[in-house]
Amino acid sequence: MTKASFASRVLSWFAHSGRHHLPWQEDPTPYRVWISEIMLQQTQVATVIPYFQRFMQHYPTVDRLAEADIDEVLHLWTGLGYYARARNLHCCAQIVHKQYQGAFPRTVEALSELPGIGRSTAGAILSLGCDVRAPILDGNVKRVLCRHHAVEGWPDAPKTLKQLWVLAETLTPEREFGAYTQAMMDLGATVCTRSKPDCQQCPLAQDCKACQQGRQTELPHRKPARSKPQRSLYMLMACSPLGEVLLEQRPATGIWGGLWSFREFQEFSALEAFCQEKLGAKNPETQTWPVLKHSFSHFDLSITPVLVEVDTAASGVMEPSSALWYPLQGDGTGAARAVGLAAPVKALLTRLAAIRTDFALSPTESHNPG
Ligand code: ADE
Repeated sequence: MTKASFASRVLSWFAHSGRHHLPWQEDPTPYRVWISEIMLQQTQVATVIPYFQRFMQHYPTVDRLAEADIDEVLHLWTGLGYYARARNLHCCAQIVHKQYQGAFPRTVEALSELPGIGRSTAGAILSLGCDVRAPILDGNVKRVLCRHHAVEGWPDAPKTLKQLWVLAETLTPEREFGAYTQAMMDLGATVCTRSKPDCQQCPLAQDCKACQQGRQTELPHRKPARSKPQRSLYMLMACSPLGEVLLEQRPATGIWGGLWSFREFQEFSALEAFCQEKLGAKNPETQTWPVLKHSFSHFDLSITPVLVEVDTAASGVMEPSSALWYPLQGDGTGAARAVGLAAPVKALLTRLAAIRTDFALSPTESHNPG
């Protein structure tokens, strides 16, 4: 693939299938391009159009915007969301008005110093509005390039971003860069869409690596999931001589709300103290089982189960309604009382029942505190 072939295919696709009548394409001054680019940053074209037109009626030049009242600017922005954009816009207009006498600077570096203007927006202002060649790399263009070149990694990861900027710079043609810039945005927005890209219509499909390898849904790679917080705790499996284990009902809200579970401890010493003070185990013998991992949507839990044989099930020490001596039977879950069990608790009860067959009691022999 040559650079010329890439650009010429994009440009000829743009001639027949691109968007040519967007309001900011008529009389594309740096000011109009800038306003449209800021409005389009987080908002769909169809939503932006009436806002853009109203804005231009009120503030036809950057100087008029600079002199405007911020409250009026915010009022005109109402409904577009992300109001920091409007504040930056106003602030930027004042800088252009004062420092640049109302004429936008013509380099990526100078434009990028202005509030709310990043490297890609600077590129768009220059190539679409100033007839200065400068690459852009907005979300749409990132997607097209990631797929075409099978660029691995999350596009906004610094290393990947650097690679994409090199590609964007290399592929931008020396002539017709304005049309090319608009074409790349249009291609990403209408053909090389995030889901269900229409590769049949794509001028780049013939040498698109993602298309050849059937990786369109995989590329660009998603942002790596932030690793979840890790929590760990001990679960006390207190076992009575009659083969019952102590369960407690969890509060109605929160994880495992209303389900029955083992008593939890942050510290091993607290678990031992509880056995001594509340369960009458003088010198409790503890048996620590291998860690059990359980994943919740917002954190990972590591459970260290600790088996303790208690001689006397000291009744009355706990709220009768929220504690239960649960008879181990069969698979550990088919006991006298049908209760909702948290998943790891169920697994632990099954294991306990398997090793404690000697305590496979019938329901009538069980007893509960209180
Ligand atoms: N999104 C960002 N810039 C755009 C433009 N110039 N035309 C259409 N959609 C866009």
